[in-house]
Amino acid sequence: MLSDAADIIEPHENAVMIGTGKGGVGKSTIAAQKAAYHAAQGLRTLLVCVTSQDDDDLGIDRYNRGLRPEGASVLDGAGLLRAIQDRTPLLPIREVRPNLDVVPGGEAVGELLTLLTARMPSEGIYVVASLARALAPIAPWYDRVVIDSAPEQDALEQLALAASRWLFVPTRSDDTSIRGMRRIARNYKLVRSQVNPYVEVAGACLYGSNPTATQLHEEVRQDVAGVLGPNTPMLKTIVGYREMPARNARKKGLTFREYANLLPSSAKSYDVAAGRAERADVVPESIKPLADEMDDLNKEIDAHCRKAA
Ligand SMILES: Nc1ncnc2c1ncn2[C@@H]1O[C@H](COP(=O)(O)OP(=O)(O)OP(=O)(O)O)[C@@H](O)[C@H]1O
Ligand SMILES: [Mg+2]
Repeated sequence: MLSDAADIIEPHENAVMIGTGKGGVGKSTIAAQKAAYHAAQGLRTLLVCVTSQDDDDLGIDRYNRGLRPEGASVLDGAGLLRAIQDRTPLLPIREVRPNLDVVPGGEAVGELLTLLTARMPSEGIYVVASLARALAPIAPWYDRVVIDSAPEQDALEQLALAASRWLFVPTRSDDTSIRGMRRIARNYKLVRSQVNPYVEVAGACLYGSNPTATQLHEEVRQDVAGVLGPNTPMLKTIVGYREMPARNARKKGLTFREYANLLPSSAKSYDVAAGRAERADVVPESIKPLADEMDDLNKEIDAHCRKAA
């Protein structure tokens, strides 16, 4: 049976979803870096990955970081699936970094669609609030909640939107990425009008681009306004495309800032040439600007949420 007001769950005031309807634009990277950024500032932070691919940016799985909850594994999206299935609060992996807890994504998240579809006849549209319900009991523990999302299914995007107070949209400059924004825009409007009236667009940014290509930025700004609405704040910070440090940091399960902090003690190219070190031991200099830009982006996203609030 459908009911109304009782099913509307007010999201955490600082719950930010990183989402757009196109794959591979940097959502998971931004979500993990943002969560770690807040935690490093001393804010209690929760990262929830509503994605069926686990990129493990923080090295939880590969480097065994964090304190696993007792009982069945919560890795590979199993914890997220179980909480929604059993209608219990989310059980995060604690202290992945000081102040940072994580509900990892992974394959099991893909099974949510079947579960939610089976519940539709009894719960109606409020099935979309399933994640919001599992998050609500633990959300007050945190100062910041960051939700990573995946564009593979509308249902997953809607679940994440229903649990969020803010939607932040990263995009690349190509047409497919701009078209991908239409999908998140459609899901945003559906969720806002039917399930979560609190969610708002915090802004958008151009990610992985050349910071000096100002003409291109202006064109993207117009595209974003056309898709997400003319008042959508377009952030000034542009995180550049720096494949090598981004790839290496993910491989090592380190944030950009943590990887940049290894620079002073890193092996150098001449050490590799002299046979004293492996290529993989050399931290590329370009991690420094990448880490700085990511910090700037996080500061700016936070400032926009505050201003909009
Ligand atoms: N600034 C950057 N420059 C170059 N490559 C980057 C940068 N940031 C992230 N990447 C790389 O781009 C790829 C896609 O990033 P990411 O996984 O964060 O995207 P996504 O939007 O979450 O993708 P999906 O939709 O598949 O979940 C990854 O290989 C990542 O390491
Ligand atoms: Mg991702």
